[in-house]
Amino acid sequence: MSEVNFKKRVFSGIQPSGNLTLGNYLGAVKRFVEMQNTGIETIYCVVDLHAITVWQDPAALKNQTRELAAAYIACGLDPKKSILFNQSQVSAHAELGWILSCVTRLGWMNRMTQFKDKAGKNAEKMSLGLYAYPALMAADILAYQATHVPVGEDQKQHVELTRDIAAKFNHDFKSEVFPLPEPIIEGTATRIMSLRDGSKKMSKSDPSDKSRINMTDNADTIASKIRKAKTDPDSLPSEIEGLSSRPEARNLVNIYAALSDTSITAVLQEFGGQQFGTFKPILAELAVNHLAPISNEMARLMADPTEIDRILGDGAQRANIIASPVLEKVKNAIGIVAR
Ligand code: AMP
Ligand code: TRP
Repeated sequence: MSEVNFKKRVFSGIQPSGNLTLGNYLGAVKRFVEMQNTGIETIYCVVDLHAITVWQDPAALKNQTRELAAAYIACGLDPKKSILFNQSQVSAHAELGWILSCVTRLGWMNRMTQFKDKAGKNAEKMSLGLYAYPALMAADILAYQATHVPVGEDQKQHVELTRDIAAKFNHDFKSEVFPLPEPIIEGTATRIMSLRDGSKKMSKSDPSDKSRINMTDNADTIASKIRKAKTDPDSLPSEIEGLSSRPEARNLVNIYAALSDTSITAVLQEFGGQQFGTFKPILAELAVNHLAPISNEMARLMADPTEIDRILGDGAQRANIIASPVLEKVKNAIGIVAR
């Protein structure tokens, strides 16, 4: 076992691959902000190199990168307290990604469920990058010797793979360069589901816009999506067990709980026995009150892209100061001749 005591450090990232959803907000960004405010060192990344594993229109990618940075800040990330940058500006990610792909075993990669979900029956037509991406994700985390990784439940397998990669590297090269990072998956909102199908996660890439709430949706759109969200004809139960075979009902209660920072049990105590006709408008109002100030702030920040680029550039410089020496240690451990 490792003798080295690594400093507590948080790293996480989100792909700039389109609209940020309520699922990203509740499952990820809201918790990024909470961790920042506990005083731990926090590093948050716009992972553009991950986004290009599937086709991205070049002009749109630039805009989406700035928009995600604006969303981070509008949700409460403070670029002075956290390091905020886009991945491709720090070359250590790509370099370490390659090195770690030489440590990762094909058998480990073949178990990744996200690739199977994303590729479906079209695996032959997918990019090699989409398949290899978990090794790059491991590099994102390990380049900073990060110890804690806040993510939604869908990313747990990738963080566990990162631990396996780190352990194999340390073992093979008799080094103690890498900590074994822990996924931080907690709270009610680890998996927000689609508004149209309670068995699918709410996703940026769902073809139906009605399946998700985007952080940039206006009040009317949010209210209409919640009003039309799929439910069942029964009223809300008073106990959590009453939600067990009702995924859509459970999802709406869960969203309410996450937005109001309470538990599902507390929400059911308040609304048990009520019909969705009553609950949905109250949920819509809560969502609008929460999201409107964020989307207004995003719009204000997006009016000054130069300032966003400055923030990302400054973050990249600070990130590089941490990642460069780690990469040097890695190269030294594997026997690469350096300057
Ligand atoms: P992605 O949209 O795949 O780039 O995910 C970015 C972050 O948001 C990751 O930490 C995900 O686990 C999290 N996330 C994405 N969708 C959801 C969802 N529906 N519910 C909870 N967390 C999510
Ligand atoms: N793979 C993550 C997703 O699709 C994004 C991501 C890339 C990430 N690198 C990371 C998350 C490092 C946490 C840590 O959501």
